[in-house]
Amino acid sequence: MAFKFDLDPSLLKPVRVGDTVAGNRIFMAPLTRSRAKADATPSDLAAQYYAQRAAAGVIITEATAVSAAANGAYLNTPGIYTARHQDKWAEIAGAVHSAGGHMFMQLWHVGRMGHPEISGLESVAPSAIAADMTAHTPSGHRPLPVPRALETDEIPAIVRDFREAARRAVDAGMDGVEIHSANGYLLHQFLSDVTNRRIDHYGGSAANRARLTAEVVEAVSDEIGAGRVGLRISPGNTAGAMTEIDEVSAYEALIERLAPLDMAYLHVVIDPTEPTFGVLRAVWPGPFVLNTGRGTDTDFCQLESYAQWGAISAVAVGRAFLANPDLIDRLILGAELNEPDVATFYASGPAGYTDYPTLAELEEPQSA
Ligand SMILES: Cc1cc2nc3c(=O)[nH]c(=O)nc-3n(C[C@H](O)[C@H](O)[C@H](O)COP(=O)(O)O)c2cc1C
Repeated sequence: MAFKFDLDPSLLKPVRVGDTVAGNRIFMAPLTRSRAKADATPSDLAAQYYAQRAAAGVIITEATAVSAAANGAYLNTPGIYTARHQDKWAEIAGAVHSAGGHMFMQLWHVGRMGHPEISGLESVAPSAIAADMTAHTPSGHRPLPVPRALETDEIPAIVRDFREAARRAVDAGMDGVEIHSANGYLLHQFLSDVTNRRIDHYGGSAANRARLTAEVVEAVSDEIGAGRVGLRISPGNTAGAMTEIDEVSAYEALIERLAPLDMAYLHVVIDPTEPTFGVLRAVWPGPFVLNTGRGTDTDFCQLESYAQWGAISAVAVGRAFLANPDLIDRLILGAELNEPDVATFYASGPAGYTDYPTLAELEEPQSA
């Protein structure tokens, strides 16, 4: 069944996020599409897919691994740690810029969400605590193993991988990068008081649990300039079998530490009716991007209710952008939207990737 949003017109105004001036406040949320090649080079179709969606204020790319060891939660996810990756991302960034868009690359390390049958490497995490989940490996669904707890002296190399990946991303022509510290992956695992049981200075207090994400953001900002760095967090989000007893303090500590940097934006995945939303909004002085995580619920539309949340710089929209390359045009016209097809979210090839029709294509007479 088709669905529709009523647009809050203030979302169509330009907004500055660090060094980037976005033409509107409707960003494309990061969406893993599992179409990369076996060596983690993005798909040949990715340039077309992203260019089709260039009308987004900013496109945030699918999560992209900062090293081979950082990859491996899902099959066929891309990286940005070889010259070949960088060349392909340069082609993609060029296509988006030619179409008038802006693009930030989301950088991740999957931590305990990785499976050795996918990455070929052992998985690592703050502590040896497995996610109670299965991974979709080449031999079928397999339980995630107990990860190896990182040694304190291994952590600088992870920070360096993020720094080098950000350099490659910008050299490939990206307008900036978004550090993925959300949804149950490595940096979120450090923030959580349940998955992080460390006794060194990366565990224990809220400030200690925030330390790795803060160090990554600081290193990347030093490398490419804070005006090109965004950060995604998801306090209380249970993706990746994540739990947090205290879902506020580590985030407050993180935001207070990063506030003076003058970063491009903070991107928060949260239901804005949660008290944590108000706490974090109050302590973050810069551009604030909201993803409610409920963008296809017809009873709760993040675009309609945008005005209620006040003081939001932009919204990030995932599934509606996935299914509607011309989402912005459709919102302006009040047109119905294509429904996202869940079966092809992580499939291969163009189906459900580059073949969602625009309104104009739907209105063309069908040839026999
Ligand atoms: C197919 C799919 C892939 C996703 N991949 C990512 C990802 O790579 N990184 C990330 O931070 N979030 C990812 N998410 C979460 C989305 O960015 C977003 O938070 C979620 O879809 C809720 O927003 P929506 O209701 O507008 O779709 C993904 C979601 C979907 C549906």
